[in-house]
Amino acid sequence: MKKIALALAAVAGIAATGAWAQGYPTRPITMIVPFAAGGPTDVVARIVTDHMSRTLGQQIVIENVAGAGGTTGITRAAQSEPDGYTIMMGHMGTHGAAPALYPNLKYDPTKDFAPIGMAAGTPIVIVAKKDFPANDLKGFLEYLKANGEKVNMAHAGVGSVSHSTGIFFNSVVKAKPTMVTYRGTGPALNDLMANTVDFMTDQIVNVAPQIQGGNIKAFAIATPERSPVLPNVPTTKEAGLDGYEVSAWNAVFAPKGTPPEVVKKLSDALSKSLDDENTKKRLLELGGVIPSASERTPEALQKLVESEVARWTPVLKAAGATAQ
Ligand code: MLT
Repeated sequence: MKKIALALAAVAGIAATGAWAQGYPTRPITMIVPFAAGGPTDVVARIVTDHMSRTLGQQIVIENVAGAGGTTGITRAAQSEPDGYTIMMGHMGTHGAAPALYPNLKYDPTKDFAPIGMAAGTPIVIVAKKDFPANDLKGFLEYLKANGEKVNMAHAGVGSVSHSTGIFFNSVVKAKPTMVTYRGTGPALNDLMANTVDFMTDQIVNVAPQIQGGNIKAFAIATPERSPVLPNVPTTKEAGLDGYEVSAWNAVFAPKGTPPEVVKKLSDALSKSLDDENTKKRLLELGGVIPSASERTPEALQKLVESEVARWTPVLKAAGATAQ
């Protein structure tokens, strides 16, 4: 008798979840952005959630939870109720580089999430303050090698995109600048524009407007082709630097255990957002790369996370990078 009761309870439980998830969402959704407002992850989040909110019929409220290279916010999001009302914008740092740098990371990017989908590809640009005493990549590298730790490199915390791509850059060019930590590359960019920090490797969606405005210098973009929004910025290869090609990405995740019906609603809303002309225009004009339909699926994102963790772990360990 007890077995039948248990089976009925289980079926009722599933049915209840199903019924509940069918009605999702019935109240505003929180999206945790694990860096300071105004930086690339925040900008991508606000652009894609604008149209997602309309599709879902509920406001997606951005909550910036910065710290520890983004792992503070992602940890909080990973431990939240898997009910679809707390989601997050992660990226190549929080869900690719972090495991190599945080031995006691409180989440496993490959296991502790329900991937929703890729939001934008974000090529990496090597940028410097306007007053930097070099006008091309060759001169920059010569100065960097001659002045070592007297040069300050900005980043958004150990494991962030700017930190991991910066460590990779330093290992390729054999430089040892002094690292300066920020709560995001939004604040770091402010100091670059104030000429109080020297350079960083950052995502194009953050730095493109300031490069176009002549407020900071761009020495090269680390992609095989130039960006259409920065036609005068050479690729690293064109500028004579081999072995430094790297692109980041930002993607939406929910906590593990989020019901499949909820994951599907969020993934469909994200995909619709990326098909919306205005959303695409806002991402493209910042140099963002729009994921193709096949790149947007939860399955594609799960595979990407697994490959990025596998890719970045040896690169960062070889560079001797560890969480400070
Ligand atoms: C940000 O939004 O500040 C960046 O994504 C931080 C980083 O990962 O460099």
